Amino acid sequence: MCGIVGYLGFRRADGVIISALKRLEYRGYDSWGVAVRDGNEIRIIKKVGAIGDVDSYSIAGGNLGVGHTRWATHGKPSEINAHPHTDCSGKIAVVHNGIISNFQSLKEELESRGHLFKSETDTEVIAHLIEESYRGDLKEAVIEAVERLKGSYAIVALHAEKDELVAVRYKSPLVLGAGDEEWIIASDVPAILDYTNRVVYLEDGDMVVLNRDGFEVWNNGTRVERRIEMIPWSIEDAERGGYEHFMLKEIHEIPKVIEDTLFEYLSEDIEMDASFSAGISEIVFIACGTSYHASLVGKYLIEKLTGIPVRVEFASEFIYHQPPMHRALTIAITQSGETADTLEAMRIAKKLGAKTLAIVNVLGSTATRVADHVLYTRAGPEISVAATKSFIAQLIVLYLIALKLSRLPGSEVNRLIDELRAMPELVRKVLEREGEIEQIAVLISGYENMMYIGRGIGVPIAMEGALKMKEISYIHAEAYPAGELKHGSFALLGEKTPVIASLVPDETYEIMLNNIKEVKARESVVVAVADEDDQEVEKYVDFVIRVPKTEHIFSAITHSVVLQLLAYHTARKRGCEIDKPRNLAKSVTVE
Ligand code: F6R
Repeated sequence: MCGIVGYLGFRRADGVIISALKRLEYRGYDSWGVAVRDGNEIRIIKKVGAIGDVDSYSIAGGNLGVGHTRWATHGKPSEINAHPHTDCSGKIAVVHNGIISNFQSLKEELESRGHLFKSETDTEVIAHLIEESYRGDLKEAVIEAVERLKGSYAIVALHAEKDELVAVRYKSPLVLGAGDEEWIIASDVPAILDYTNRVVYLEDGDMVVLNRDGFEVWNNGTRVERRIEMIPWSIEDAERGGYEHFMLKEIHEIPKVIEDTLFEYLSEDIEMDASFSAGISEIVFIACGTSYHASLVGKYLIEKLTGIPVRVEFASEFIYHQPPMHRALTIAITQSGETADTLEAMRIAKKLGAKTLAIVNVLGSTATRVADHVLYTRAGPEISVAATKSFIAQLIVLYLIALKLSRLPGSEVNRLIDELRAMPELVRKVLEREGEIEQIAVLISGYENMMYIGRGIGVPIAMEGALKMKEISYIHAEAYPAGELKHGSFALLGEKTPVIASLVPDETYEIMLNNIKEVKARESVVVAVADEDDQEVEKYVDFVIRVPKTEHIFSAITHSVVLQLLAYHTARKRGCEIDKPRNLAKSVTVE
């Protein structure tokens, strides 16, 4: 996820673009850059880090340009890799949001024809493809160039000798702001609202040509009309996409995050490289918090599907306990890639002789430099302190690892991958039930203690559900394997302690129903998360939140989204500071 901007109007483009990029920093903030047309030249500025003081930069006096704020996906954050990217002549500048999956083969092809590349990015091929197709008409050159691209993109391009911008989108967002004698095109509405509230939402395959006469939209070679809509939101609302909190926005981004992460490893040109697993006898996960819970799901999946023994260690404990690591592969899971305990545990694992693989969301973060191998999740920047979409992206990578290493017949692996591909749709169905989940959240929001229970893969689901609940609603929530309750925690049950039960349709189902009956006998209110066609559970519980039917291992996704929404709406009802819960930070860089 990155933010892109293009401006054509009467103001100085550098100022407009930099302040618009600042509004898009929630989409990426590891580096940024702007290109402005100045006479028949292009002037470019690129910087690493966040934008800081908007007024401290001056590039050129022109009033046409493009800009980009980056969330790195190919190539580490650096000035060279920051956009805009140019062609060999330096006349064409391009900004891009998305992933070009066939960029490597395109790059080799272009290099064989003499093109010289400066960066490690996938985007630079676009500038060179446009250069090859350019015969005086920028629009035609962009059309020819994008025909060669596979993947997802929103692109804005300019040519030093043309008083126009050409933009195109496919599976990455792009909106056009239509002001008076000025136009601003961007990844999202907040970049536009300082100049106009009249926007055009572009559709997949749309190409926009912007010049002093106005704009034209083309799709598939045909001129099309797109409606101008009035935006009623404030800028603050718009940054959150109209959602009240980033956490809710990020939960609603989960279907797209699953698509992007699957695309990263399952698209035509990319195969997951599993060389990290060669010669290993066991896997040791190290992680903290939510990433630790993802690791527990990983243990369940890998042991079930591959037979490889797996241990899961809290990174903070691993550092001091330093267990034996015989031919072990250490998998460190960390969204931020900067958690001090996880980094230290990785370094120790390496000293103990283990190979290290990191599953990370932030490209270029320290974990990616410490690890021998890296697999990226494609969740984009997560602003809310509570991890939601990044957790689901971690699960997707873990499903892919487990399936890659699995001993199942190929046909069964393919069937499960097909089910995984259906998950974005199933999560959208879960999100449609948000109203029901909110009603239950309102009913349980008055309690001060809760118990989450599950069995099998339901145990880490329960643990993550309880963590979400406690960190944002400040309700004391504990999680237990349902069979363990009778060994002590039963003493806590009763009418003051509701129980949230994750009921997974596998071999644990019947015994889990028994556990629920035992809980009900202690007079706790029970909320079950269960399959939509489960006729049995409603006889024993107070409320059922239904999830679409799926292969039981994928319940970790659907159930977790339910529990994230339950925590969110409970905290909202209690009036908590949801995106910045007390005493917590997004990335914990101290041991
Ligand atoms: C909880 C949460 C934390 C993090 C933990 C590890 O919602 O976000 O528990 O999961 O601090 O962070 P990363 O994954 O960045 O290492």
